[in-house]
Amino acid sequence: MSRFKWGVIGTGRIARTFCEALGGVPEAELYAVASRTAEKGEAFAKEFGFEKSYGSYKQLAEDEDIDVVYIATPMSAHFEDAMLCLENGKNVLCEKSAALNCEQLGIMLDKAKEKDLFFMEAMWMKCRPTYLKAMEWISEGRIGKVRYVKADFCNIVEYDPNDRLFSPACGGGALLDLAVYPLTLAADALGAEPDEIISSAHIGRDGVDLSNSILLRYKDGAFASLNSGFEIPNTNNAVISGDKGLIVLGNWFFCTCEATLYDRDCKEIEKSVIPNIVNGYEYEIEEVHRCLSIGLKESRIVPHSSTMAVMKIMDECRKSWGMKFPQEMKKMPGGS
Ligand SMILES: NC(=O)c1ccc[n+]([C@@H]2O[C@H](COP(=O)([O-])OP(=O)(O)OC[C@H]3O[C@@H](n4cnc5c(N)ncnc54)[C@H](OP(=O)(O)O)[C@@H]3O)[C@@H](O)[C@H]2O)c1
Repeated sequence: MSRFKWGVIGTGRIARTFCEALGGVPEAELYAVASRTAEKGEAFAKEFGFEKSYGSYKQLAEDEDIDVVYIATPMSAHFEDAMLCLENGKNVLCEKSAALNCEQLGIMLDKAKEKDLFFMEAMWMKCRPTYLKAMEWISEGRIGKVRYVKADFCNIVEYDPNDRLFSPACGGGALLDLAVYPLTLAADALGAEPDEIISSAHIGRDGVDLSNSILLRYKDGAFASLNSGFEIPNTNNAVISGDKGLIVLGNWFFCTCEATLYDRDCKEIEKSVIPNIVNGYEYEIEEVHRCLSIGLKESRIVPHSSTMAVMKIMDECRKSWGMKFPQEMKKMPGGS
């Protein structure tokens, strides 16, 4: 397999975790990193072994040697950063949630199509072997017809007005940051288009949701019950129940290395335990490499349609809560 020159935009928390994985994938070349601050970029490049660093995202986007750019900025910046990369002919792996809303995402996907470039949301959960094993059990009919999904992603995050998580301007809130995982699982197990979406949220002092609860009802009477938030601890496992059995994805379901299949009497039938090779992010990197090496513009594991379907539900939820990002009060989807 060929080697791919990666560019990384943003030097925050997830960029560090991702670059640790990048360093463990032989086909990945840690080529360039960009920060809004040249010194931060230089320090990050030195720490992770990047060949180049830039003090602006534009400079990185214009580097002709880059094969693919990983965007690790806050949600509010994804639209601008992805459009910058796509306009400059770069393939893109963009952190979740890929955009603030469907309008932005639609423009980003159209741009990728127009420029004939690869675009994937960094929904790493969908690339993980344990998750794929659970999906395989479902498609093989091992649990019968799926009737119910329960998935939570809650933890305690101390309030910090400077943290993007609490900032409307940064696209903060538990919905786009956390609920995107349970919603993606529900869409994979039950379908992308529920018949009914019932949701409620606790909106904090800054105007973003600190916790939320979402109930999806499907045409055939199946349900998904999903909870996310920054205010309560939780085991964060996921249960996918069918009329012949059930699957439990272990605690922290989106990054677990363990999936268990039970029959309808809750007797264990099979357990899948697949340890990470690096830290679990290597699988999405390998998926990007696989797509690029065969010229795919869209991953079959993380298709655009799935990213859009989940975004649609999140738009619906926010609409019912009356929660808008400041960018949405202005005319253009990017907020300019
Ligand atoms: N896949 C996962 O497991 C996972 C986990 C956590 C987060 N995420 C996603 O990754 C993205 C970044 O999250 P994070 O937790 O890494 O955020 P973070 O620690 O706040 O870092 C974001 C970085 O983006 C850059 N940036 C650009 N514009 C910014 C702005 N207006 N405010 C603050 N930073 C800005 C900064 O880098 P420079 O200063 O160097 O330019 C900053 O370090 C989010 O979309 C989040 O949902 C994914």
